[in-house]
Amino acid sequence: MILTPSLALIITGVLVATLTGRTHSARIYSNSTQKLESFPSPIGGRLSSQTELDLAWADAYEQAWDLVSQMTLLEKVNLTSGTGWEMGPCVGNTGEIPRLNFPSLCLQDGPLGIRFTELNSVFPAGLATGATWNKALMYTRGQALGQEFKAKGINVLLGPSMGPLGRAPEGGRNWEGFGTDPYLQGIGAYETVQGIQDVGVVATAKHFLLNEQEHFRQAAESSGFGYSDPMAYSGNTDGRALREIYAWPFAEAIRAGAGAVMCAYNAVNDTQACENSYLLNHILKDELGFQGYVMSDWLAQRSGVNSVIAGMDMSMPGDGESWADGIPFLAANLTLAALNGSIPLWRIDDMAVRILAAHYLVKQNPRNYTKPNFSSWTLVDNDDLYPGSPSKTPYGLVNQHVDARSSLSRRVTRQIATESMVLVKNQNSYLPLKSVKRMSIIGSAAGPFSLGPNGCENRGCNNGTLATGWGSGSVNYAYLATPFEVINMRAFSEGFGIDYSFDDYDLDSATVLAEASDVAIVFVTSDSGEGFLTVEDNLGDRNDLDLWHNGDELITTVASSNNNTIVVIESVGGVNMEAWIDNENITAVLYALVPGQDIGFGISDVLFGDANPSGRLPFTVARNKSDYPATVEYTMTSRQPQLNFSEGIFIDYRHFDRESIEPRYEFGFGMSYTTFEISNFSVELSSDANTDLEAPLPGNYSNPTLLNSSLPNATDTVYPDDIPRYKKFIYPYLTSSEADGIKYDEDAYPYPSGYNTTQKSVPHPAGGASGGNPALFDYLVNATAQVGNTGNLSGAEVVQLYLSYPDLLNVEFPVKSLRGFEKISLQPNETSTVQFWLTRKDLSYFDVVRDNWVLPRGNFSVYIGNSSRSNALAGRFSID
Ligand code: NOJ
Repeated sequence: MILTPSLALIITGVLVATLTGRTHSARIYSNSTQKLESFPSPIGGRLSSQTELDLAWADAYEQAWDLVSQMTLLEKVNLTSGTGWEMGPCVGNTGEIPRLNFPSLCLQDGPLGIRFTELNSVFPAGLATGATWNKALMYTRGQALGQEFKAKGINVLLGPSMGPLGRAPEGGRNWEGFGTDPYLQGIGAYETVQGIQDVGVVATAKHFLLNEQEHFRQAAESSGFGYSDPMAYSGNTDGRALREIYAWPFAEAIRAGAGAVMCAYNAVNDTQACENSYLLNHILKDELGFQGYVMSDWLAQRSGVNSVIAGMDMSMPGDGESWADGIPFLAANLTLAALNGSIPLWRIDDMAVRILAAHYLVKQNPRNYTKPNFSSWTLVDNDDLYPGSPSKTPYGLVNQHVDARSSLSRRVTRQIATESMVLVKNQNSYLPLKSVKRMSIIGSAAGPFSLGPNGCENRGCNNGTLATGWGSGSVNYAYLATPFEVINMRAFSEGFGIDYSFDDYDLDSATVLAEASDVAIVFVTSDSGEGFLTVEDNLGDRNDLDLWHNGDELITTVASSNNNTIVVIESVGGVNMEAWIDNENITAVLYALVPGQDIGFGISDVLFGDANPSGRLPFTVARNKSDYPATVEYTMTSRQPQLNFSEGIFIDYRHFDRESIEPRYEFGFGMSYTTFEISNFSVELSSDANTDLEAPLPGNYSNPTLLNSSLPNATDTVYPDDIPRYKKFIYPYLTSSEADGIKYDEDAYPYPSGYNTTQKSVPHPAGGASGGNPALFDYLVNATAQVGNTGNLSGAEVVQLYLSYPDLLNVEFPVKSLRGFEKISLQPNETSTVQFWLTRKDLSYFDVVRDNWVLPRGNFSVYIGNSSRSNALAGRFSID
C-alpha cells in the first residue's frame, strides 16, 4: 500500500502520551444531577428522523459507508489526522489516500474570510453581521464566503464562530460571533452555516464549548503566570445555562446541517473539551443528534485514547502536546491503539465515516473538488510544499493567485458594512449631515496605517481604521476603504472643505481643527483578538472597556471647541462612553463595530444619509463595567483556573433586567432617520398545539451499520520503504519495533469510569434528529403585528419579540428573552405585517432533573418592540 507522504513519527514519548492519556474527573457545576461521563461514542447514521436534513444525512452516510468500507486501517487513520503544522497549503491538512484517489482535505480559517492569502474579501465580522439583524443578509454572506473558499480549493471553512458568546464583555474573540444572546447568535449561526454549505463547503461550528475568554484558554498560553505545568481554564456551568445559553447556537448550527464542530481549548466542568465524553458523546452526538465530525481546535487535543472514546473525530493540525512537534496523539498512535485493542475498530470507522458524510452532505466530492491553489505560508509563486519540515521537501508551484472575489461578495460586504451601523445618539436629528461647509476628521481611526492595511500579521496591532479584531479570525485586505478616504472623495465631489488630524495625542491640532469647522467627526477604537498575540498589553481579551489611544480625551477636547461633534466608534464590543456621552456638543454617536473592508463606505453612507441606519446593538452597553454580570479572569490563582459561570442564564440584558440596572444603551437598541409604529399585535397559541410537558419521544436509533472491518497485521502498518519520510510530517505508520511489540488486549487501557461499548438504541429524549428532537421545533405560538413607516424617509425597522415566562415556584426565568426578530424595509407611509412563530423550544426551559426541555404551565407575556426595553406592545397566552 502506498500512503501519502505521511509522517515522521518520533516515537519516544508518543506511546506514553497516547496510552495514558489524561483522565480528569468531570463535574457539572452545581444544580445538576446528570451523569458526567457518557459512553460509548454514538455511531453516526442511526437517526430515524425523517426531516429533510436527516434524510440528506442518511444519503450522505450511504456514500460514506461505501468508501470507508474500501479503506484500510492506515487510510482511515490518515483521514482523521492532520499532517502537522505547515505541512500543506492550509492551516489544517489531513493525510491523503492516493490508492482511492482521495486527496488531503484543506481546512482554513475563518469566520470572516480566507485567512493568510490574497485577492479575497474581508467580510464584516460576525458581530457586525449580527448587528444588521437581517437574516437574509446573514445567509447571503454565508454563501459569498463559501464561494470564495471554494474558489481557493478549501474543503472546510473554520467558522462560523458561535462561542464565545460574550459572557464577559472584554472577551477577546466576542466579535467573531453574532452577539451576546443565544437566540441572535443561533440565527446568525443557522443562516451562515446554510449559506456556506449550500455552495458545497463544509462549515465548522466553533468553539464547543465555554470558550469565553483568551486568558488561560490553553495550557501553553497559561505559562508565565507562576504555575509549573499549568492547565487550560475550566469553564464550569450548570446544565441549564449549558443548554439554554451556550449550546443553543450550536444546536441551531447543527439544525442547519453543520458538517463539523470544533472542540475548544479549555476544559468544561473540569474535563478538557476535546476529551469530555459528556460534552461530545452525550450533548453533541446524542442530545443534539450531531451527525458530522468533531475536530480539535489547533492543539486542543490533550490525550489520545481518551479523546477518541469521548467523541473527537479529527486531530488538528495533527501535532500533539506542543506546537509543530510532529508527535501526534492520533496518526500512528491511532494505528497503534487500534492494533493493541485500546480503541475499537468501529470507533475508527465511525470517525472516518462521519468525516466523509459531512462532505457528501454538502454535495462535495473531495475527489473532484478544486485543489488548494494558494499557500498559507507565503505569497510567492514557488516554495516548499511542506515548509514546516526541517527536511528538504518537494518544491513547486504553491500560489496561483486566484481572485476569489465575486460580484456577490462585493455586494454583501458593502451592504453589511452599511446595515450594521448602529446610531445610538442623534440630538435634534442632526444626522444625516445636511449642508456641511467645513468638516474636520480627527483621530487615527479615520485613516490608513502607515504600513498598509496588512502591516501587522494577523492584524495584531491597532493602527489606523479598525475594521476587524486580531488573530486567526483575521484576513488580509485586498483593499481597505478607510472613512477618511471615502469622505475625502465626497468633499471632492460635493465641494465642502475638509481637513484632518490623525494624531490621537495632538490635542492642540484637534482643537484648532474643531474650532475651524462646522462639524467635527472624531474616530475612536477599541480592539481585541486571539490570545496568541498581545496588542498594547491586551492579551487577546481587552483589559478594560475604555477607548484606546486617548479616545475619551480626544472626544472631550474636540467637543469643547465644536458644538457639532460626531463620534464614530470602531469597536469589537461595548465601550464605556460615560466621560462624554451626555455632552450636549456631541450631537451624534455612531457605533461602527467591525464591519470589514468597506467600513469607510458604511460610515459615510449613514453619516450623509445615503442609507438610513438600521443596525441594532447585538450586546448591552453598560454605564459601568461593574454592571455586567461577568468579567474576564485575568489572574491565575491555581494551576487550572476555575471559571465558575455562576450567573447561570443571566448574561447580558438578562442580568440588567433581573437586577434593574439601567444600561447606557440596551441590547437591540438603534436609531433610524425615520419613525416607525408597531400596531395591531396579536398572539395566540395554536389550537392544535401539543402542550404536553415534554415533547413526544423521538424515534429509536436504527441498528448501527458496522463495516466488517478487520485489523491488519501489525507488520503491514510499518513504514513502507518507498515513501519519502519528512521530519515532523505526521504519518500513520509504525516503526518495525513498535509493530513487533504490539499485544492485543481490550482490557489493558485504563479507561475512564463508565466506559462501555454498547450502543444505545434509544436517543436522548431531547435528541433523535439533527439539532434535537424535531418536536422541539414545532410551532406552538403565532404572533403578528403591523409595522408602519410614519416618517418621511424610507428605512428598515427591526421588530423584536421578547418572551416572559410564567412564574414558577422553583424556576427563575429572565424578565425577557429574545424569541423572534424580523427586519422590515418600508417606504414612508408604507405598512407591512410581520409574523413570528414560536417553537416548543422557544417556550421551554431545560429541567436538569428531568434532563429534558419542559414547557412551563401558566401565563406567558409576549412583548414586541424595537429593543429589549422598548415594550411597544404586549400580548399574552397561557398554557394550562
Ligand atoms: C485556533 C483558533 O482558536 C481557531 O478558531 C482556529 O480555527 C484555529 N486556531 C486554526 O487557526
